[in-house]
Amino acid sequence: MRSIQKSGVKAQGGKLEKRRAIGARFVLLRPAGYPLKSLFQEHPVVSDPKLFELYAREQWYGEAVKPGCYLFDRRLYPDFAFQVVKVYPNFSVVGSETTIKVEQKAETKRVEYDVHFEDVVGQETAKRKVKIVEKFLQDPEKFGRWAPRNILFYGISGTGKTMIARALSAQAKVPMLPVKATSLIGEFVGEGARQIHSLYEKAEHMAPAIIFIDELDAIALDRRYQDLRGDVSEIVNSLLTEMDGIQRRTGVCTIAATNQIEVLDSSVRSRFEEEIEFKLPTLEERLILLQKNAETLPLPMEDVNLPEIARQTEGFSGRDLVEKVLKASLHHAIMDEGDITQRHLLETIPLARKEFRQPPKEMFS
Ligand SMILES: Nc1ncnc2c1ncn2[C@@H]1O[C@H](COP(=O)(O)OP(=O)(O)OP(=O)(O)O)[C@@H](O)[C@H]1O
Ligand SMILES: [Mg+2]
Repeated sequence: MRSIQKSGVKAQGGKLEKRRAIGARFVLLRPAGYPLKSLFQEHPVVSDPKLFELYAREQWYGEAVKPGCYLFDRRLYPDFAFQVVKVYPNFSVVGSETTIKVEQKAETKRVEYDVHFEDVVGQETAKRKVKIVEKFLQDPEKFGRWAPRNILFYGISGTGKTMIARALSAQAKVPMLPVKATSLIGEFVGEGARQIHSLYEKAEHMAPAIIFIDELDAIALDRRYQDLRGDVSEIVNSLLTEMDGIQRRTGVCTIAATNQIEVLDSSVRSRFEEEIEFKLPTLEERLILLQKNAETLPLPMEDVNLPEIARQTEGFSGRDLVEKVLKASLHHAIMDEGDITQRHLLETIPLARKEFRQPPKEMFS
């Protein structure tokens, strides 16, 4: 009988077992990493799935598999582990007919946007800064070691942080690699750190390019709060290394966004050369926001008084105005089978306010 698998799945290749067990029709594998850390950082990439299947069948012929167990590629040193994600039938043996696939990692897509700086209402400090970044992305050499590298956008949700990053990407005509910090918290040790490393490698390859890390607070929490999300120090360290630019990545600019700057780890926070606050729109900005977006509504507006709506929506973010006021009014008008009226707009305001956790001060006065 062959030895026991490292996973603890017993008698993988035993003759008796093999005769009794059913041949697997399908096995889905997920690269799980090397048992020894930091020798090899990258997961192997399966460039030819058919060839990999032949290789895998030959190597693991007769191995008993069930969901959760590990298969070791012993031809690599140290043995690379694959975790079995799915097997059909549920407990079976790899045979000559078994279809073996490796889960593909979600690719970080290069995204192109159709947003412009003029579409962003207010947020002048942020606009000025991203215009500098735009100049850098167009001509990185001009800046040399004085290049803008790490910028932090912070402030209330729905105030245009993501929008301005997209506008920068569109305007500078450079790729943006957006990543949600929460998606970096992987199941396996080292996975998040590896993803950060390959994200930066990819950006360098595409440079000039922007890396946009949204919800930064998910990984860069102050130690006092880390219990909330578990240990993400590995990811933070990897991010710090990239942000410090020990390995210089020419033409790569990182923009991160958070709406909870106060919980950020100070070591991460100190890496940003500038922290730019996004504020709620003023009365004037709310009016411009309403007017700009109203122009794009598919229904006409009848006798509406947008300055009045702007006056009544103190404390609303740009997103609130677009989603909770204009969009909700449009939907009501569609249901009423008519144009959008002032009544439709006014009715949305108290409903939207109810959803706010913190009513604005004027509500108490
Ligand atoms: N300053 C603004 N000018 C124009 N539109 C805005 C502005 N702020 C928000 N909006 C509208 O609200 C939408 C959402 O904004 P955005 O996604 O940029 O907010 P955010 O600050 O990134 O929020 P979060 O912190 O929740 O991620 C935008 O797509 C846009 O329609
Ligand atoms: Mg955002």
